[in-house]
Amino acid sequence: MSDTQKIKVWEQLYETAENRLTMTFQSVKENVAVARLTAASFGSLLSFSMAELEELKVAVSEGVSNAIIHGYLNDPQKSVMMSLAQSDGSILIIIRDNGIGMEDVEKSMEPAYSTVEDRMGLGFVFMKSFMDEFTVISTPGCGTTLLMRKQPQKCL
Ligand SMILES: Nc1ncnc2c1ncn2[C@@H]1O[C@H](COP(=O)(O)OP(=O)(O)OP(=O)(O)O)[C@@H](O)[C@H]1O
Ligand SMILES: [Mg+2]
Repeated sequence: MSDTQKIKVWEQLYETAENRLTMTFQSVKENVAVARLTAASFGSLLSFSMAELEELKVAVSEGVSNAIIHGYLNDPQKSVMMSLAQSDGSILIIIRDNGIGMEDVEKSMEPAYSTVEDRMGLGFVFMKSFMDEFTVISTPGCGTTLLMRKQPQKCL
């Protein structure tokens, strides 16, 4: 499936989800906490454990921080979009920036890879390991879209 098709499928999933929330916020680091807490309260509508909600919060913080720091180079005039949906027992999270994008997504996702000195290069590692599904779609000069899905673990 092409990137465009994948985004279309997710937009369709979002539109038909039983509960949805979209927010657009300015690219300032204070809003990382706002996005994280919004995702956690939306996530608490599903039966996530406290540990899973913490994972959700980390993934959202990392995704939104990346949009602000890397995508928009901390330009407060730019805006980040986050959509949350409750769909078929999972939470869907879409985080989008229209920033600089990435030349090589695979390279960017390697552990310890960072284009900013003194950063750990672990954001993608956390997002990937904490979510059940995680896709990065990015075009240089156009921006980056993160597609994430997580389902509460079922106990037997
Ligand atoms: N939204 C984005 N727009 C442009 N480039 C990005 C974006 N997100 C990530 N990148 C690129 O991918 C690299 C790796 O991202 P990752 O989150 O794994 O590490 P980091 O942000 O550099 O460090 P850390 O997250 O540990 O503070 C970044 O250094 C940056 O070059
Ligand atoms: Mg990061």
